[in-house]
Amino acid sequence: MNILFCDNPFENKASVDIDYEDESVSAKQNGFATQLFSYESLTKDKDAEFATRRIKHSDTLQKIVYRGWMLKPNQYTSLYNALLTKNYKLINSPTEYQNCHYLPDSYKFITGHTPKTIWLTVENQQVDYDKVFNDIATFGNSPLIVKDFVKSQKHYWDTACFIPLATDKDKVKSVIEKFVGLQNSDLNEGLVVREFIELNDLTIHSKSGMPLKQEYRLFFLNGQLLGCYDYWEEGEYSADEHPPLDIFKNIAKNIESNFFSMDIAKTKSGEWIIIELGDGQVAGLPDKVDRLQFYNLARQYYGS
Ligand SMILES: Nc1ncnc2c1ncn2[C@@H]1O[C@H](COP(=O)(O)OP(=O)(O)O)[C@@H](O)[C@H]1O
Ligand SMILES: [Mg+2]
Repeated sequence: MNILFCDNPFENKASVDIDYEDESVSAKQNGFATQLFSYESLTKDKDAEFATRRIKHSDTLQKIVYRGWMLKPNQYTSLYNALLTKNYKLINSPTEYQNCHYLPDSYKFITGHTPKTIWLTVENQQVDYDKVFNDIATFGNSPLIVKDFVKSQKHYWDTACFIPLATDKDKVKSVIEKFVGLQNSDLNEGLVVREFIELNDLTIHSKSGMPLKQEYRLFFLNGQLLGCYDYWEEGEYSADEHPPLDIFKNIAKNIESNFFSMDIAKTKSGEWIIIELGDGQVAGLPDKVDRLQFYNLARQYYGS
């Protein structure tokens, strides 16, 4: 059983990235072997071989799970291949990684359980607004939210995420322009536009003013639910309210990934929907989650 973490780029001797120290300790306490690689060498220098230089060749082919920062699919593929040369195989193939990392790839697994979604690729941050206006006609005059294939700018909710009326072209353009400007060269592939559904209120984010809603993050490992966690740190989650997990466990069965997160939310009208999926290797563990317990369950469902 192996977990791969990013190393601490500010230390010469090998140590884990400080943001993942708690996970590393918990993984070890649960019997996992841990390995380190250099995220900087992989992503900035594009040198996967150097990035994985500290990992010794294994005599037998072993499974390994990454826990760390998000990787672009091509970076994940480089890491995947570099690890294979050492006889370590990441739990998700590059295709399985992309299945949950890119919303357009996830959509086919969750259609009907998640807000209606369209997307278009964007090159060199040049948005074809004629195409945008044409495509969003499908939403009529509903409110929308904007993100790229991976992330939103949710902390700029009113200016770069939320569009109150799909037919308001000036607002559509200004929100997309602001969003693309903020993403800059980090824009992932293109634009995703989704129907906005009123979610149940939790509180207002103390720093950004973003409305926080009744959302939960689920993790599935090899088809097993590891846990259902309150998504936000702030706000009062009712102890009596239990999301209908059987529905989501059923949907999870058809998702082509061995380790993924599923963010769910309760709508104002009382329905439960999926907001997005994420690859489990790069999805953050909400702060409140007991790391020891998480890795204890991960050990049970890890498989051979
Ligand atoms: N279609 C939607 N309808 C209503 N609220 C949404 C919708 N999509 C996202 N949100 C809200 O915006 C937040 C950020 O959206 P999300 O797709 O999770 O982006 P990110 O990848 O940046 O986390 C969500 O946590 C949720 O509160
Ligand atoms: Mg999210």
